[in-house]
Amino acid sequence: MKYDISNFTLEEKISLLCGKDNWRLETANGKVKEVFLSDGPSGLRKMVADVIPTLADVNSNKYKTIPATAMPTLSTIANTWSEEMAKLDGSTIADDCIENDVDVLLAPGVNIKKTPLNGRNFEYFSEDPYLSGVMGKAFIEGVQEKGIGTSLKHFLANNRELDRCFQTSEVDERTLREIYLLPFEIALKANPWTVMCSYNPINGIYASENKYFLKDVLRDEFKYDGLIVSDWGAVHSPYKAVKATLDLTMPYDDKFYDKIYIAYQEGLITEEEIDFAVQNVLNLIEKTENDKKKITLTKEERHANAVKIAKEGIVLLKNQDNILPITSGKTVVCGEESYNPTLGGKGSSLVTTDYKQTSIDKLLNDLSKGKAEFVKSVAIIKDGFYMEIADVLTYAHELDNVILCIGPQIIGEGYDKTSIRLSPRTEEYIREIAKINPNVVVCLYSGLAVDVSPWVDCVKGLVWAGYSGEGVNEALASILVGETSPSGKLAETLPINLENTPFYLNNGNANVSWYSEGIFVGYRYYEKYDKPVAYPFGFGLSYADFTYSNLRIEKHGELDYTVYYDITNNSNFDAKEVSQVYVKDILAMVIRPAKELKGFSKDLIKAKSTKTIRIKLDKRAFAYYNVCLKDWHVENGAFEIMVGSSSKDIKLKQKIDIKLPNSEQYSSSCKRHDK
Ligand code: GLC
Repeated sequence: MKYDISNFTLEEKISLLCGKDNWRLETANGKVKEVFLSDGPSGLRKMVADVIPTLADVNSNKYKTIPATAMPTLSTIANTWSEEMAKLDGSTIADDCIENDVDVLLAPGVNIKKTPLNGRNFEYFSEDPYLSGVMGKAFIEGVQEKGIGTSLKHFLANNRELDRCFQTSEVDERTLREIYLLPFEIALKANPWTVMCSYNPINGIYASENKYFLKDVLRDEFKYDGLIVSDWGAVHSPYKAVKATLDLTMPYDDKFYDKIYIAYQEGLITEEEIDFAVQNVLNLIEKTENDKKKITLTKEERHANAVKIAKEGIVLLKNQDNILPITSGKTVVCGEESYNPTLGGKGSSLVTTDYKQTSIDKLLNDLSKGKAEFVKSVAIIKDGFYMEIADVLTYAHELDNVILCIGPQIIGEGYDKTSIRLSPRTEEYIREIAKINPNVVVCLYSGLAVDVSPWVDCVKGLVWAGYSGEGVNEALASILVGETSPSGKLAETLPINLENTPFYLNNGNANVSWYSEGIFVGYRYYEKYDKPVAYPFGFGLSYADFTYSNLRIEKHGELDYTVYYDITNNSNFDAKEVSQVYVKDILAMVIRPAKELKGFSKDLIKAKSTKTIRIKLDKRAFAYYNVCLKDWHVENGAFEIMVGSSSKDIKLKQKIDIKLPNSEQYSSSCKRHDK
């Protein structure tokens, strides 16, 4: 270890436990290197001035951040279902960090999309904990392989923005383990240099001073030996935070030193507890002094990666009459997103890019090389509104197709939405235009789920562009003309109206965010309560046609299986397919979801060829968390292994029977048919 804690005075040690300003760590009178932390999950967001902006300042972008590559948001990364893309995303952002002397990137966020209204859902991966954890792990690996640290956040149960600093998340133990802790447990396998605690209390105790979750669970049970940093302003009692093993309070707090020193003098905190935190800070500083920090990508190559990842994260949801790809005829393109696309959401993840967008009609014409013609609608402004969509009403009937590039109002950190619908005016235009010209393709730029049911039946094409960074329109154009076959799939259900979502069960009260839906989050909820959805978890179309066949399951032990299945690409062009493996406990003594995602694979399958996919299933593929045992438990009996192209479209399935020794079972859980 480079830094010997005995070389530091008590004053220097305490100073190391709190930031020097909004982004930098203390140096203990120059005894250690200065470390710089910066957001975020969608690319580097480094403030040009060391200020402590209010959220209003951040949203108004009052304090400019340096230009960097605006990568797709994590919601788009999840829609790629590709660990390779998640890793590429992390390593691309790492180059911007190295170039700008940033040591730790404050990402990824792996919080679960419990409600579709959460203002930060664009910053998170999925409603499913397994997919969130696997993608978060790959992202961390991508960043840290280049000698830049990460911050796995926001630990724990921070699933809405409303009153996020004070509203306690009231969650039962089993739900925490199976849904909200699981993404962290999986992503921790990548050894993130830091974990960031959340603002909210969990079951009544602030995350920043919650010893059960920070020490007993994160450190002792999950064996995490890195640094725990607070979210910015999340520490309410510095000495209680240190006693709970939170190491670093951010940002600078002018009362921090005195509060710790007085607590120490009063015997509320020991030098040993202070040293534990100091050692974790020194270990972090030492990690930042590594020789892996080599810039490997030009600015152009970083942009190209943003496009490449967006291509794999855009989701084709509807393609009636194969209206896509558009390879002939005359098409008008309208909507502000077509030339000024929303790249990401507002708040601490917002990246300033100096990349100049090209309007999508031009991109389409360039790619189409004269086979089809794309014209830009005339943007006229009336009463201060962009009336261009209305303008299209006057001549849409003369065209072969209409492409609408639209989205809901931008979302961001610090506030939740109240509706998952597009504006009434936008919904009305879609229906009006479709009455005049039925060949409408809607490209939806959104960072959170949208209820498309009021209008989707009157359009022929629907493409989910998401919040996909500065390369979104190049990626979208490539898909619309057929240069790229879409391969993204939804990592979050698109519900039909709010009443059908679990959110309605438990809006909580002023002080409590109630998790009464328990483990039934996302598709687990919609399936359990048989709620109709517009587009299910895991759904996405391709231009290619795939056949699934030949499922076989190899048993190596009662809790050790390898699942094999074949996918054939029947088309005459290469294409990628995301296949998913779900597991169901057919008869359990506890309530369990109808199915749970336990494996997935994204594979390039050559034209007219077949590929065999292999997925490993271990104990955790079959177990639920038993709060009496305080452990994961598998009940003997029949389970069903399902292989699907989405959570709703199961192509292959097979039952297996698990027969663990009776000594590992409990009388209550001997399946009825075993008697
Ligand atoms: C914000 C966010 C957190 C971010 C931090 C620094 O409040 O909750 O995700 O990394 O503060 O900007």
